[in-house]
Amino acid sequence: MFFKGLLGTLPLLTLLRSASGDLLREIEDALKNATDCSSCHALLVPLQTLAHLGDDAFVDTFVSVCDDFGLEDPDVCQGIFAKDGPILAHDLRRISATGQTATKFCDAVFGLCNPPPVNAFAVPFPKAAPANPKAFKSTGKLPFQVIHISDVHIDRFYTLDSEANCTKPICCRNFADETGPPTEPAGPNGNSHCDSPVTLADSMLEAAQRIGSTAKFTLFTGDVVEHTSWLVTKTEVTNDLEAFNAEMASKLKAPVYPAIGNHDSVPSNAFPRNTTITSMDVQWVFDTQSAGWARWIGATAALQEGHTSGSYSAVVPGLNLRIISVNTQYWYKQNFWVYDSNIQQPDPNGLLAFTVQELQAAEDAGQRAFIIGHIPMGKEDLLNDQSNYYDQITQRYKNTISAQFFGHSHKDQFEIAYSDYSNQTASTATSIAFIAPALTPTSGNPAFKIYDVDPDTFEIMDARVYITNISAPNFQSSPPQWEFYYSARATYGPLVTPPLPADAPLDAAFWHNLTEVFAVNGTAFQMFNTFISRGGDVQACDDSCKAATICDMRALRAENNCDNPTPGFMFKRGETEAHISVSESDACEGKGIAHILKALVNRVSLSLISMRVPATACLDTS
Ligand SMILES: *[C@@H]1O[C@H](CO)[C@@H](O)[C@H](O)[C@H]1NC(C)=O
Ligand SMILES: *[C@@H]1O[C@H](CO)[C@@H](O)[C@H](O)[C@H]1NC(C)=O
Ligand SMILES: *[C@@H]1O[C@H](CO)[C@@H](O)[C@H](O)[C@H]1NC(C)=O
Ligand SMILES: *[C@@H]1O[C@H](CO)[C@@H](O)[C@H](O)[C@H]1NC(C)=O
Ligand SMILES: *[C@@H]1O[C@H](CO)[C@@H](O)[C@H](O)[C@H]1NC(C)=O
Ligand SMILES: *[C@@H]1O[C@H](CO)[C@@H](O)[C@H](O)[C@H]1NC(C)=O
Ligand SMILES: *[C@@H]1O[C@H](CO)[C@@H](O)[C@H](O)[C@H]1NC(C)=O
Repeated sequence: MFFKGLLGTLPLLTLLRSASGDLLREIEDALKNATDCSSCHALLVPLQTLAHLGDDAFVDTFVSVCDDFGLEDPDVCQGIFAKDGPILAHDLRRISATGQTATKFCDAVFGLCNPPPVNAFAVPFPKAAPANPKAFKSTGKLPFQVIHISDVHIDRFYTLDSEANCTKPICCRNFADETGPPTEPAGPNGNSHCDSPVTLADSMLEAAQRIGSTAKFTLFTGDVVEHTSWLVTKTEVTNDLEAFNAEMASKLKAPVYPAIGNHDSVPSNAFPRNTTITSMDVQWVFDTQSAGWARWIGATAALQEGHTSGSYSAVVPGLNLRIISVNTQYWYKQNFWVYDSNIQQPDPNGLLAFTVQELQAAEDAGQRAFIIGHIPMGKEDLLNDQSNYYDQITQRYKNTISAQFFGHSHKDQFEIAYSDYSNQTASTATSIAFIAPALTPTSGNPAFKIYDVDPDTFEIMDARVYITNISAPNFQSSPPQWEFYYSARATYGPLVTPPLPADAPLDAAFWHNLTEVFAVNGTAFQMFNTFISRGGDVQACDDSCKAATICDMRALRAENNCDNPTPGFMFKRGETEAHISVSESDACEGKGIAHILKALVNRVSLSLISMRVPATACLDTS
């Protein structure tokens, strides 16, 4: 019996508060059956009954199941379900088990459904695209510099000499249940099993200021908070956000244009839509950042940020450039608040309309625009609906947007938008998104980027990556050394045919041509594959992985990526929990509740079904 531990050992009080034996058996049966999308819908029925017993019953039951299966350490099971369980229970009480929202829920939470087809929705535009769009012409002026940092994930409880080889999603802290001397003591500057110590973050800001001393501004695409999602509190997150704002302000001379990340909230990923009435609203996040960012973005944009769910737009003083910072989390699959209604809401909190409004303002003023946000619009963990609608905006304002900037994946990547995704050529490539690698050392060497930007066109002329090498013998010496890693222009420019002319930008057409090179030149592709994780933790990428990776480069629209894991086949047969490869969305989400529940349904069905189709060769390259 899978639930034997639960039924046998739980104190009576807990059992009364949680589900009855009959309901538990029903859930157990449904879990055993949950191997595909329709059986996931069936599973939601008893889970709804459980949710109607109340949040406590729901949370207690799942904490027990998590413990029974040893899916995580007891403190992690308790913390994750106590935080996220009430949101899932809230959803289940409000939706039909058979509807489309339930399908989306089953995709995000259990990994058992494919996303449903995109719901047609035409984004309204105030004006048609101009027949003769303004031509932004370079006069050959020297480019200016822009720093791009992302996913700092600073762990302010990082503890020197604590256990770096622990059993929790993130290590290098003095966890209460860890006893005995550490097998691998945490060094002063970081470890690949741990989020960034303050020393590492400070050294990056100092290096960025030193190397990018002429930079006009810095883009920070979000995720301040560390991955201890089972522990974070509103007090801690507020402190984390304020502390990093202060550190950026003290170390970077030029202004910072930040964006909100999925970890910059409590619980992580949780941003309730304004149609949801809940005491768990996150206006405090927007207020904290409004106060913290005003020094850079100005009072008007700060006010807008506070009133537009964390999004704002600001014209860079002295430049014909508008920066539009979008809170992407309402379009994020792992934001479980978006599954609490049977009615599909195309534009939660009006953020698509906000983006249109700001791009129209830029077009009307003859400005160019940078869009910045946390989650890249083409990723598998973005909702296909909102990604499609966002792409309509990209296509409409392709002449205004010079480039887009994201983080979240922790990888050095790019994504291309096309006016026709079924005819991907240099001429149909319409927009380019640059994805910054992370500071946190959990997915490769800590890194940041510096762009060269043409001051007339605001096109990107070069992107240079700087790293600190966590495997270098002197990494733990003080302070960590930062070094030049590669220049996109110098490395990739000569590979395309014809070679990139000296005055040509790294625009969408160029990046498309580069994907054509990657498709035929294995050496060039493997170089990119090494750069993804900055030469640390490099993952082998065979031909089918390469095909999926190139497909993903050509997808700034989520429905076009090739990441969708086959539902129900998350893990390779025979893999134990410890060896389950971390998928890209897990790296971003930080092994949250969906990771645990996906592991649960896989564990239950793996123990029942001996022969299954193995996982596709490359769900991701992380
Ligand atoms: C499990 O699946 C079997 C076969 O499809 C079905 O007969 C049974 O009713 C299902 N049980 C539950 C609890 O859904
Ligand atoms: C990490 O800890 C495990 C036991 O939890 C141990 O088997 C392993 O040897 C340790 N690794 C290192 C590098 O010390
Ligand atoms: C939610 O936000 C949108 C966009 O600002 C607004 O139009 C709508 O009225 C709001 N809904 C509620 C219930 O506050
Ligand atoms: C693909 O796009 C190119 C460039 O715009 C165009 O010339 C060609 O006709 C298109 N092909 C198809 C099949 O649409
Ligand atoms: C990092 O340092 C290690 C050890 O010296 C070395 O093998 C590796 O090539 C370095 N990585 C990079 C990206 O420089
Ligand atoms: C892309 O490649 C085509 C040839 O396939 C070439 O005509 C075009 O100039 C290239 N564009 C860029 C920006 O490199
Ligand atoms: C393939 O790419 C490598 C760089 O990674 C380059 O040196 C080589 O010349 C390229 N091969 C061809 C045939 O273009």
